[in-house]
Amino acid sequence: EKITVSVIKADVGGLCGHTLAPIELLDAVEYVVENAVDETLIDYYVTNCGDDIDIVMTHNKGTDNDEVHKLAWDALTDATDVAKELKLYGAGQDLLSDSFSGNVKGLGPGCAEMEFVERRSEPLVVFCCDKTDPAAFNLPFYKMFSSPFNTPGLVFDPSMTEGFKYEVMDIIDHKRVLMSTPVETYSLLALIGNLERYAIKRVYRGRDNEIAAVASSEKLNMMAGEYVGKDDPVAIVRAQSGFPAVGEILEAFANPHLVSGWMRGCHWGPMMPVGEEDAMPSRFDGPARIMALGFQLSKGRLVGPNDLFADVAFDKARDKALEMAEMMRSMGPFQPHRLPESMMEYTSVPKVLKTLESRFEEIPENNCKLEKTTDRGDLE
Ligand code: F6R
Ligand code: MG
Ligand code: MG
Repeated sequence: EKITVSVIKADVGGLCGHTLAPIELLDAVEYVVENAVDETLIDYYVTNCGDDIDIVMTHNKGTDNDEVHKLAWDALTDATDVAKELKLYGAGQDLLSDSFSGNVKGLGPGCAEMEFVERRSEPLVVFCCDKTDPAAFNLPFYKMFSSPFNTPGLVFDPSMTEGFKYEVMDIIDHKRVLMSTPVETYSLLALIGNLERYAIKRVYRGRDNEIAAVASSEKLNMMAGEYVGKDDPVAIVRAQSGFPAVGEILEAFANPHLVSGWMRGCHWGPMMPVGEEDAMPSRFDGPARIMALGFQLSKGRLVGPNDLFADVAFDKARDKALEMAEMMRSMGPFQPHRLPESMMEYTSVPKVLKTLESRFEEIPENNCKLEKTTDRGDLE
């Protein structure tokens, strides 16, 4: 029998500002979800990363199931009521619609789901992030599933030597393409290195097309047509026995990379791996956090979690992330701390340009033409 793992998340209010989804909200979610165990769900786990509430659910209903999505929607709606009562900041910010219509996609919450036949032993890692966007997984997914320097299993485990396939989304033109590594490694990198436009949605094992990883990739800011908060992503990754080992999956975060998000969703900053206790981004509303929760599935039951980034062996990564944070912060409103215009969550620049419109003047062309003294031909 197939098991579905669904992670649905939303920010429905912060204490204070955009820093933390407090326990009152998690309780409200848990109350609704708990009541659905046996009827709709096999099991669940509710947590938060910063101001985002993450609901991990297991069931037999497949992906994109109305009942499961409605359950998550109802739970987040109840949490919104509590957030409004407590006058939390941005209460209900990610629930963009007043009514539910069959699937949370397009309504604001982020969602990552996968369906598979549970193996003899099924280790899973659920990643939850805050203050960044789905393309934050591009680099670590590449390392996990395609870099033998990160994942020796690609070299030593015969069931991985055929590599992995990536479903890459073009988030501007709403298209997707399936690409195989190692054969198409360089072409894949040509796309996914561009974080402005491409985000990895799913990864499959090359040998048998088994699902290996999935990330949420809803673009909140584009959906609402105005600023409604960065779409802080979640992801599910299967581990061991023909997939990367848990340690290979986590190793992709041992050397922090820069991601977009942070203050006002307008800055590049490091992605800091943290345990659940430390997922409370406050400095300059960040820097971006990622938690890794390890589960073993037992007939759909979620055994765990093991709070994997709480390991002291990630202390160095955290130190390095903080050093990177210092370095980026020193640039203030200058690029490359500040994001390019197209990636900014919201910006006053168009308004600034508008007010300056009448004051801009053409530069007389002749004055700025340089005398051409040499060209490549002279050097031959
Ligand atoms: C980033 C984020 C925060 C807010 C910032 C301003 O994803 O959520 O950094 O952008 O605190 O928030 P507002 O505009 O609500 O005052
Ligand atoms: Mg928020
Ligand atoms: Mg958030």
